[in-house]
Amino acid sequence: MLYAGGIARGSDEKAIHEVSGMTKIRYQQSDVFEPLSLQWKNGEFELKFTQPLAEDSGITGQSFAAFSWGMQNTQNYGGPKVGDRAHRVEVTKISENRRSVRLRVEGIREGRVLNLRVSPKLKSEAGEALRSGDAFYTMTKLPGLEQPTLLTTADSTEILRSGGWFDWGGDELGASVYQTYCMACHRKDKQPGIAPSFAGLYGSQRKYTLPSGESVTGLADEAYLRESILEPNAKLTDGYAPGLMPMIGGQLSKDQLDALVKYIKGIK
Ligand code: HEC
Repeated sequence: MLYAGGIARGSDEKAIHEVSGMTKIRYQQSDVFEPLSLQWKNGEFELKFTQPLAEDSGITGQSFAAFSWGMQNTQNYGGPKVGDRAHRVEVTKISENRRSVRLRVEGIREGRVLNLRVSPKLKSEAGEALRSGDAFYTMTKLPGLEQPTLLTTADSTEILRSGGWFDWGGDELGASVYQTYCMACHRKDKQPGIAPSFAGLYGSQRKYTLPSGESVTGLADEAYLRESILEPNAKLTDGYAPGLMPMIGGQLSKDQLDALVKYIKGIK
């Protein structure tokens, strides 16, 4: 049994009450399908999964999106990401039990954080979809390897567009953005959660409060979805705490945002 505690801070007492407290987590004797570990071994990455991959998983380098960035040191708390770039991935080996794959990630360098994202299309042997497809690795030191000379750095979406090796679009990209940034709060089924479910959201009538305090009913069309993502405080959905929905929109590229909106529209 695991007890997890959380505290929130801020000036909103109601929101703090809703997200603070203790949660009891009981192990259900079943593992979800997701990345278990990411390790650097002899010039390649080894990615282990919690369950074996489907025999016909079709896993290739295109099943991955890899991004890396450096962190700029500042005198403040935290600093900005710098030198964001995308990397081509090649699968060099799939283990016999299909629980791990070896990956060559082109152009990996010291002092950078790698985010490896696995395609949501990948299935386990039992036919299960990934619960989360993200794995991270901070390459503090690259042992025994000559540092490659400066490689092209550019905005990752730009590289992705020109790269051609990586063609996640539409649903696949949208699903991956949803898993990374939204799934923790917004469910895809109709179950209640700490945030409104995305099921049937698009095209429904919403009741919300404007910052002026005025109560309004309006249609959840595409403009409403975009505004909710980019300016979470513009409209407060009835029955939910203010200030919970984070400002994630600014971190998304145009392609990511478009794919995400399309994906949410499709959740029935
Ligand atoms: C920490 C929890 C949290 C995360 C993460 C989060 N949201 Fe929200 N979101 C909320 C809450 C709470 C509300 C309702 C209150 C409000 O309107 O701000 C909300 C409201 C919304 C609404 C309006 C829904 C309605 O019923 O009218 C949309 C659309 C939305 N979020 C999209 C997103 C998207 C897309 C992401 C991921 C990029 C995301 N949210 C991430 C908590 C979250």
